[in-house]
Amino acid sequence: MEKMALESNAAAMVAPGKGILAADESSGTIKKRFDKIKLESTSESRRAYRDLLFTAPGAEKYISGVILFDETLRQKSSDGRPFPELLASRGILPGIKVDAGAKPLAGFPGETITEGLDGLRERLAEYRGLGARFAKWRAVIDIGAGIPTRYAIEGNAEALARYAALCQEAAIVPIVEPEVLMDGDHSIERCEEVTDRVLTTVFNALFMQRVHLEGIVLKPNMVIAGKKCAVQATPQQVADATLRCLRRRVPTAVPGIAFLSGGQSEAEATLHLSLMNRAGALPWQLSFSYGRALQKSTIDAWRGEVSNVAAAQRTFLRRARLNGLARNGSYDAAMEQVAA
Ligand code: 13P
Repeated sequence: MEKMALESNAAAMVAPGKGILAADESSGTIKKRFDKIKLESTSESRRAYRDLLFTAPGAEKYISGVILFDETLRQKSSDGRPFPELLASRGILPGIKVDAGAKPLAGFPGETITEGLDGLRERLAEYRGLGARFAKWRAVIDIGAGIPTRYAIEGNAEALARYAALCQEAAIVPIVEPEVLMDGDHSIERCEEVTDRVLTTVFNALFMQRVHLEGIVLKPNMVIAGKKCAVQATPQQVADATLRCLRRRVPTAVPGIAFLSGGQSEAEATLHLSLMNRAGALPWQLSFSYGRALQKSTIDAWRGEVSNVAAAQRTFLRRARLNGLARNGSYDAAMEQVAA
């Protein structure tokens, strides 16, 4: 019974034509986004911005779920309804980021371990009561000289699996997010090698900790060259390398894979997803769980002004619709000009 509820929510999160909006920026991260439009980050400006996203007319056609930050899960829409209730009334699953961030890993310069396991069982019970039906935990793996180390990968995989098991115990679908960063100057081949090892280690830990794979959603990075690498791969090369890696390492019991955007532009993230979904029959749903790649143009259109809310909502809907098209491979880069 419990397994069936996990499976049906996981399937709903990766329903065809839709994807997940990652709006779970921590207070520090949303401040960085607001700094760019010279807007002060206050509890009310953060609420107003999330309200804009969650009330955008028509968004439920393309958005299956939204990942919230603790503060947002407890806030209300302008009509007085708590955000989780508003989202659920639109057929959008509310989710919650539960990790406490990536912290320096003692003894391993340049590497991090994601914290947040202490008290997680109790927090999950509370979040479930507040309406959360899925959760997210992000592990961060950086590529550089001599890193990642084997221990950093294993330590992060253990924590991800521990979190996933606790979520399933609480009838919450875990989004398992091992992110290999695209910040360095590494090649796409190096990214593939590291992503390969990370996914293998993560699925091994999920197996050891008895996680029910049919009731998770995997949120990986795409296989892509580092931003500072002199040789950038073509979109088709990114799509091919990513699919090759996932086919090798992700069991077909997993219902869906929802990519993070990780610093790709909005158009790049949409194009890569569309190319992968054009590759023919795949064993899992291939979807999106974008933060920046769903919100960048929306924040720019809003700029913190009430008078821009309707235009910003249209911008958000357009981005969501283009990613919805990428879900079955029918997005084309030329649509960026037309739709604008
Ligand atoms: P980006 O798509 O901006 O990488 O954010 C997704 C996310 O949730 C990172 O944890």
